[in-house]
Amino acid sequence: MIQPVIKWSGSKRTQSEKIKSLFPESFETYFEPFIGGGAMLYAINPPKSICGDICIPLIRLWREIRDNPTNLAEAYRVRWNKLQQEGYVAYYEIRNSFNRDKSPYDLMFLSRTCVNGLIRFNEKGEFNNSFHHSRQGINPDRLAKIINDWSLRVKNTEFMAKDYMITTESAKSGDVVYLDPPYFHTKGRYFGTIDFDRFLGYLEDLNYRGVKYLLSFDGKRGNENLTVKLPRELYKRHLLIPSGNSTFKKVIDKKNEKVLESLYLNY
Ligand SMILES: C[S@@+](CC[C@H](N)C(=O)[O-])C[C@H]1O[C@@H](n2cnc3c(N)ncnc32)[C@H](O)[C@@H]1O
Repeated sequence: MIQPVIKWSGSKRTQSEKIKSLFPESFETYFEPFIGGGAMLYAINPPKSICGDICIPLIRLWREIRDNPTNLAEAYRVRWNKLQQEGYVAYYEIRNSFNRDKSPYDLMFLSRTCVNGLIRFNEKGEFNNSFHHSRQGINPDRLAKIINDWSLRVKNTEFMAKDYMITTESAKSGDVVYLDPPYFHTKGRYFGTIDFDRFLGYLEDLNYRGVKYLLSFDGKRGNENLTVKLPRELYKRHLLIPSGNSTFKKVIDKKNEKVLESLYLNY
């Protein structure tokens, strides 16, 4: 399975190969306007892509991975060494530094040393997850390899810190858009929230423009049915994809539940 460079809640890591097998055989530009940790982008490995997210620090980190992999890996090493020497105090110093300056280098370090690797911000945009006391953080040599690997993958990707509609504005017939919006029922859990009606209007517009889309949308978890109905005229196929276990559920209840996720395709 893909080694994530940015750990992100709601990652499509466990489903990426299955979803990839459902992609059109050929297409021009790949768009992913809810990029998060970018699991699908990695799996698809398109020659040309435009990706975005509303979360500005996340996009700044993606740009560093693409443009400055060596500096990013080195910055992690420096911070990691400080942590080994000074303990958790170093973590909180670096967290304060991130909340002041929003450096992607600090964010990379925090994401690899915070509780369960969950990047989490409060309403003020401050990183608020705590230090993971029982772990030391990934070894800098290992992380450097992962960063380099991803850097090569995203060399031709344009990253936009924008709303999904703007990121995909230039999509046209022959292009493909993979959509993984925050779940409508988990309002507030991810960065940003999505207005359902606006999103439906957007799907209608993609259909009108002849843009192919794949949409990961709702889910069934254990006995809970979390399905949000998508109007029938907006898509051609609806599939249920096993997604392994939900990280959120695991963290919250310490028990595993089988999760199925919906995938809608308009072709
Ligand atoms: C479910 S996550 C995507 C996870 C991703 N597929 C992965 O594998 O890691 C949803 C993403 O949508 C972003 N988001 C929320 N509202 C948005 C908006 N209006 N425009 C663009 N991105 C948005 C969130 O910041 C979050 O990264």
